[in-house]
Amino acid sequence: MNDELFGINHERIGGGMSRRLFLRATLAGGASLLAGRAATLFAAASANDNSAFSIGGDLPVNRLGFGAMRLTGEGIWGWPPDRENALKVLRRAVELGANLIDTADAYGPETDELLIAEALYPYPKGVVIATKGGQIRPGPGEWVPKGDPEYLKQCVDKSLKRLKLERIDLYQLHRIDPKVPMEESLGALKEAQSAGKIRHIGLSEVSPEQIERARKAVPIVTVQNRYNITDRKWENTLTYCEKEGIGFMPWAPVGGQRGLTGDALERAAKDHGVTIYQLGLAWLLHRSSVMLPIPGTSSLAHLEQNMAAAKVKLSADEWKAIDALAGQA
Ligand SMILES: NC(=O)c1ccc[n+]([C@@H]2O[C@H](COP(=O)([O-])OP(=O)(O)OC[C@H]3O[C@@H](n4cnc5c(N)ncnc54)[C@H](OP(=O)(O)O)[C@@H]3O)[C@@H](O)[C@H]2O)c1
Repeated sequence: MNDELFGINHERIGGGMSRRLFLRATLAGGASLLAGRAATLFAAASANDNSAFSIGGDLPVNRLGFGAMRLTGEGIWGWPPDRENALKVLRRAVELGANLIDTADAYGPETDELLIAEALYPYPKGVVIATKGGQIRPGPGEWVPKGDPEYLKQCVDKSLKRLKLERIDLYQLHRIDPKVPMEESLGALKEAQSAGKIRHIGLSEVSPEQIERARKAVPIVTVQNRYNITDRKWENTLTYCEKEGIGFMPWAPVGGQRGLTGDALERAAKDHGVTIYQLGLAWLLHRSSVMLPIPGTSSLAHLEQNMAAAKVKLSADEWKAIDALAGQA
């Protein structure tokens, strides 16, 4: 997805670490230390693991999920150059414990949902496919909100078919269409929910005020906004979600197309035997128990690395030190 399109504001990170960090990561499949370091270990007292979160109170998922958008072709358009690889990545994500898979009808468009069904259907027990509707794609890298109710109703039907599902566990309104009152868009989703086509409804790129307004029309169980260690523009939405027990699915959790950068964070990660991506994901998981990161990759190696981040342990002090580091100019 084109980062520019979303008006992304990347903060620069600089400076050194104020205190020594102690990190240990175990690889997902075993107990080997990532860099063979005999680092001091602190079991995190808080949310810094892949513990479950119950979406809508009845849909338990491991908090570290997988975003499938990067599996499509260039510009999030068409089929991937290596389709077999894309299928392998999806299957491996589930093997490694990602049971919240995020997609959208707009990814491809359509090809992402089709790939998910091809790779994973019949879906293993507990796998939650979260899709979205409400954006059309005039061409590669182009995204246009479209929220009129009739359009959304047929989006739901088409996603059901592509995903080979009888009911979509989590359906997210990809964008609030500024040309359509949100109550009308959400009304279409509510209707689909009443018809048993959707279990839960989520929103994307929204402010607390917009969530409050939406909740007057329909229960909202998740919010998906851009958020990562170096981009906290939506902090107020995260705070709102925490207060209300709404799942927060940060997109671009490892920095999106541009990745995660920053000398100080790089040094901290390297110094302690993890990558900056793992550090960023561990920081997110630790940030809040409603945090449901959905890192995306088309690389099996990156996937393994990202999923191993769920095992990175941070004490409260370590987390604070990393947090302060990321906030430096
Ligand atoms: N709601 C929305 O509006 C919205 C917008 C955008 C995305 N999303 C969702 O959020 C998910 C994640 O967002 P995103 O893909 O934009 O951002 P992201 O997950 O932060 O970053 C993905 C990018 O980082 C690279 N990457 C991932 N892991 C890496 C690693 N360990 N080392 C080095 N590079 C790594 C990937 O390249 P490689 O393929 O080379 O690994 C890819 O280019 C998407 O899949 C999609 O489901 C939602």
